[in-house]
Amino acid sequence: MEKNIVKHSYSVSLDSRKKLKHHQPLLLWFTGLSGSGKSTIANCVEEELYKNKVHTYTLDGDNIRKGLNGDLSFSPEDRTENIRRIAETAHLMMDAGLVVLAAFVSPYQKDRDHIRNVVGHNNMIEIYIKTSVEECERRDVKGLYKKARKGEIKNMTGISAPYESPLHPDIQINTEEITVIEATKQIITFINPKLIIKNE
Ligand code: ADX
Repeated sequence: MEKNIVKHSYSVSLDSRKKLKHHQPLLLWFTGLSGSGKSTIANCVEEELYKNKVHTYTLDGDNIRKGLNGDLSFSPEDRTENIRRIAETAHLMMDAGLVVLAAFVSPYQKDRDHIRNVVGHNNMIEIYIKTSVEECERRDVKGLYKKARKGEIKNMTGISAPYESPLHPDIQINTEEITVIEATKQIITFINPKLIIKNE
């Protein structure tokens, strides 16, 4: 902790907030190439959690890179800073008692390891949305791959910037083999036991 910063002890604690919400906080971290399906799957998982009365919030490029991280580019250093700030934001939201879904390319293993250190080892579920670059380029929902091929976008992950696939993700979803509904079921089945508060 920084010098001269002293943590105040508030009387409403994380434990009190958990009792109110009846579930553990958790971070579901979706990593994968642009256009791999991270946000689509995160959206379906969040819908399912909402139906089960779980309190959630989703962080993604749209609400983070336009605001909090609007000053960051796609250079390796800025991507690291992007993920560092998101990890801290997610950590605060988890302290508020939420299940946070975060959908970011997050191409570097060291940055993903850092998130786990920030939020606590057992509190992060790393979900690798595995879609080949060929398939992402074929889908090209945002037209970014086309621009990258023309040289209009530099540092495009998968084309001119690296993506380090997770070696030991908690969950791996191969979107070229299973549907969004199947992927959602797989994720929900995995996380349900982790949402239970022991001794409640
Ligand atoms: S990260 O690498 O720093 O984790 P982040 O998930 O925030 O990236 O943003 C990725 C999104 O920004 C992509 O889905 C895409 O829409 C857009 N984007 C724009 N330029 C790039 C680029 N050079 N590489 C990857 N994504 C890019």
